[in-house]
Amino acid sequence: MESTTFGAALVETCVSAAVAAPSIHNTQPWRFGLDPETATFEVRADPERGLRHADPTGRALLLSVGACVFNLRVALTHFGRPPVTRLLPSPDDPGLLATVRPAGFPAELTAGQGEERRVDLYEAIWRRHSSRFPFTSRPLPAAVRDELAAVALAEGASLRFSEEVDTTRMLRLTAEAERRNRLDAHRAAEGRHWVHRELEPAPDAGLPRTALGPQDARERLPLRDFTAQRHPERLIARPFEDAPVIAALTTDHDRRIDWLRAGQALERVWLVATAHGVRASVLHQPVEWADLRDALADACDGTAHPQLLMRLGYGPEGPATPRRTPGREQW
Ligand SMILES: Cc1cc2nc3c(=O)[nH]c(=O)nc-3n(C[C@H](O)[C@H](O)[C@H](O)COP(=O)(O)O)c2cc1C
Repeated sequence: MESTTFGAALVETCVSAAVAAPSIHNTQPWRFGLDPETATFEVRADPERGLRHADPTGRALLLSVGACVFNLRVALTHFGRPPVTRLLPSPDDPGLLATVRPAGFPAELTAGQGEERRVDLYEAIWRRHSSRFPFTSRPLPAAVRDELAAVALAEGASLRFSEEVDTTRMLRLTAEAERRNRLDAHRAAEGRHWVHRELEPAPDAGLPRTALGPQDARERLPLRDFTAQRHPERLIARPFEDAPVIAALTTDHDRRIDWLRAGQALERVWLVATAHGVRASVLHQPVEWADLRDALADACDGTAHPQLLMRLGYGPEGPATPRRTPGREQW
């Protein structure tokens, strides 16, 4: 493909869509390259943006990169270039996490790129935000659950909705992880580091305080307390939904490629949910402790590898969080 038919403006638009993806603590741990000959995007991790204490193996970092790769796929498809995506394409270059090669136009567009052309999720990219606010009691229809599970499967992961008993167990494990995160000085400091203080200009990564939301007054839903304070007098508490809908995103294996797949599945699920008006937030705390992650696996079916929990429902849209401008420093 000639770079003249794939202009700089389109490249920037696609990268902007990619970086709108969710990432742990909004670290945005990715970098992009572009092969001008083939217009192939190369996606790498930005190791400087890893979480040493919460994510020493880089698992959550790769989940985040996977989510960003999915957005890139959606954007290219939206602009008539359904791409061919390869994860970890080069054994000689393990830092190359994905290549995303836009299809030629129009020949390959009609050549059956499969999944890429089914539903246009591009608009949902801009409307998807974490919502850490209380949801209503409106149940999630079975058809929506089935669709979300199906799209996770299409990306090589499983989304398992839990029954009441498992939900209680999963939330207890999350609460225990929260308790440990608060007591662990390194992890507490790491979390706080990514919460905005009153800085000018406002940082272009991390979480503004408006994105944090209240704590659950009934202490049932242990949303992450990024400030690691949990003093009721410092954090506002409100009652959350009585019957939270919690789904575990799992993979059959636990290799780097599975983490990238799980990240793509996370984002596809989240965008489809957004298109249905369903809000979501992530509970990642229990998979950050090996024994709690094992216990979470037991609460699933004992064989799968939990990657994170999603909380889904109807409620207020979360606020937008900042992104680094896709520019030279990310290339
Ligand atoms: C791998 C991963 C783990 C995450 N873990 C949590 C979490 O434990 N608690 C939480 O509230 N949000 C979590 N998030 C959501 C991020 O904080 C959020 O995506 C980021 O701050 C950007 O905000 P946005 O989702 O509104 O765009 C996680 C996201 C990813 C990709």
